[in-house]
Amino acid sequence: MGDELNRGLEGIAVAETRLSYIDGEEGELIIGGFPLAELAGNATYEESVFLLLNDRLPTATELDEFRADLAARREIGSEVRDVLRRAAEADEPPMDALRMGVAAASLGTDVDSNESAAKRAVAVFPTVVATYWRYRQGEEPVSPREDLSHAANYLYMLNGEEPTDAAVRGLETYLNTVVDHGLNASTFTARVVVSTESDVVSAATAAVGTLKGPLHGGAPGPVLDMLREVADGDDPRAYVQAKFDAGERLMGFGHRVYRVRDPRAAVLSAAAESFYEESGDTEFFDTVQEFEDVAVEMLADHKPGRRLETNVEFYTAALLHGVGIPKDLFTTTFAISRVGGWMAHCLEQLADNRIIRPRSHYVGEKGRTWTPAEER
Ligand code: ACO
Repeated sequence: MGDELNRGLEGIAVAETRLSYIDGEEGELIIGGFPLAELAGNATYEESVFLLLNDRLPTATELDEFRADLAARREIGSEVRDVLRRAAEADEPPMDALRMGVAAASLGTDVDSNESAAKRAVAVFPTVVATYWRYRQGEEPVSPREDLSHAANYLYMLNGEEPTDAAVRGLETYLNTVVDHGLNASTFTARVVVSTESDVVSAATAAVGTLKGPLHGGAPGPVLDMLREVADGDDPRAYVQAKFDAGERLMGFGHRVYRVRDPRAAVLSAAAESFYEESGDTEFFDTVQEFEDVAVEMLADHKPGRRLETNVEFYTAALLHGVGIPKDLFTTTFAISRVGGWMAHCLEQLADNRIIRPRSHYVGEKGRTWTPAEER
């Protein structure tokens, strides 16, 4: 025990959680006790977060109070706006701006209680992202509105106008779908940070840095580029073949854990379908579905024996594009959802904490003797 090396901690369980369960062979994802399909299209994002924090759904009164509580924590001060304006002027990428903004947004707020700081983190992420984005577009930020839901307010702050119900429902389904996913890298990071009895804002900041990496949060942007090329007239078969011939991977397909179609893809595909139907623009979505069929069939021939199916990023791109999230904000929008999971994991870790402190195998020299600098 202890001598075996596990690069990447693959297959190692380091925490007990009631927050989410993944069965990669069966394609099953449970969030807060609900099969994903049961939760994602029914809940508001506020209900999902309440569920993760409290292990039950809120009553109607509790939901009103929770909504109001989160909404009252959305504002950022002028010092945070300054940071975000400068980040936008310096062309800092959105995830870097989010990291800076989240760190700055803890200035002057009550982070004494982890519960309170966790709610502040969830509430303030959309304001940070939207404020940065408005500056990036050369526009003044739009202040948050307390009367709008979490999802509606994010779209409102981005565009300066109230979103349609269809767009809010589409975004809300997305936010619920990716709010938690086992001990992924950013969630693990958050738990490591609080396991030292550091605070949840530090955990959120570190988790944003982890999610930024292309191996974790970065695929939906390239998926949208691909879908647009096909929608603009490229033949899907020729497109896929050209990728294979170039030795490239097809974005939005394959997953480390799932050996079947990612269950999140089914939920997001249904949400995207109803969104595009309601908005009367089915042409793009038809292309997306045709492309999936062609790609899965061709991947089966390309890599026989390795089931490569659609992952979450494929329909994320289609859905977020539809509801009006700019491609550059796909990963920050992922963070706006996942911060709910990060915060719930932090509180769960703290409730029964043991510092996360793995070991390493030493492969360096031993017994070196000192040579003074002038003699080296
Ligand atoms: N297109 C073409 N070939 C692929 C793809 C793909 N999307 N995915 C895997 N393969 C091939 C690999 O090249 C490999 O072939 P080889 O054995 O000849 O080298 C074989 O299938 C097995 O692949 P692995 O590397 O074992 O797959 P792994 O489980 O490590 O990777 C990953 C999973 C990173 C998601 C991969 O499928 C991939 O790069 N997909 C495209 C990028 C993408 O969509 N990323 C978002 C993932 S969703 C998420 O993480 C939130």
